[in-house]
Amino acid sequence: MNIAYISVPYRYGQGKPGTEQGPAAVEQAGLLETLAANGQEAVRYGEAAVLSEDAVREEDPQLKRLEGVVHTTNDLHLLVREALTEQRFPLLVGGDHSMAIGTIAGMRQVVPRLGVIWFDAHGDLNTPETSPSGNIHGMPLAVALGEGHQRLTEIGGDGVKLQPEHLVFIGLRDVDAGEQELIDRLGIRVYDMEAIRTRGMDAIMKEAVAYLKETTDAFYLSFDMDGLDPSLVEGTGTRVADGIMLDDAKTVLRHCAEQDEFIAAEFVEVNPLLEEGNGTAILANDLIGNLLQYMRTHRLVK
Ligand code: ARG
Ligand code: MN
Ligand code: MN
Ligand code: MN
Repeated sequence: MNIAYISVPYRYGQGKPGTEQGPAAVEQAGLLETLAANGQEAVRYGEAAVLSEDAVREEDPQLKRLEGVVHTTNDLHLLVREALTEQRFPLLVGGDHSMAIGTIAGMRQVVPRLGVIWFDAHGDLNTPETSPSGNIHGMPLAVALGEGHQRLTEIGGDGVKLQPEHLVFIGLRDVDAGEQELIDRLGIRVYDMEAIRTRGMDAIMKEAVAYLKETTDAFYLSFDMDGLDPSLVEGTGTRVADGIMLDDAKTVLRHCAEQDEFIAAEFVEVNPLLEEGNGTAILANDLIGNLLQYMRTHRLVK
């Protein structure tokens, strides 16, 4: 296991200042020490390029700050591809969730049949036509499925990056009408809070991982901090009631870590400006520590 930590200090996929400080906040919480404690070099592999504020104009209200998103996700896709090609495990810290447009585009160039576990309160399946906000952080999965603005779907090459049957939602509970239509039409697999409560996270993750492994070559985890219960994450921009608690989140990480097909992870939507102190970044660092520890254990017992 050779981790490539990549930071994505940007916020153009949503409107609240602060997610551009997410990676610095998680580093402040001890991320490089967490890497070292798990046998890794305490270094940043790369940082995605971010346009300056004045270069990002807000001309289209249904695709806000498009240039800023295109610039960073295009750069990120190159970094992710390079890391994977070097047999490293990309560990990404953001930044708002629109960065996943770049993550998925980069991974897809190395992994033809890519699986995705989307840990999130939200579907992030909007298009400019269905979006209630015009914020691109609500659109990355639609883009990966080939729906949305061409400037976004063409990052990393034209076309579909992700098949709907290679995607699984964990913790979904705030879905817009257009997103629900897409989920139903494409038959996307959803594990909502009700399913987590009745069946338990352990059973759900066993099933989710088996489902992905059946038809994909490898998968990655996209971990939106707002998938967690709002009592745990003050510092994230779009909190939703009745979320995932800590033990269940760790169960998600453990089941991912136990699979050889698990090849990357991203932690997004840390916004230290929305809280006193640095609690959400500290939690993100703790979760990353758990993940790395589970991955080490798995490798040792293998
Ligand atoms: N569904 C809402 C929208 O499209 C909220 C999206 C929140 N996304 C996120 N990555 N936090 O605007
Ligand atoms: Mn999200
Ligand atoms: Mn979310
Ligand atoms: Mn703060």
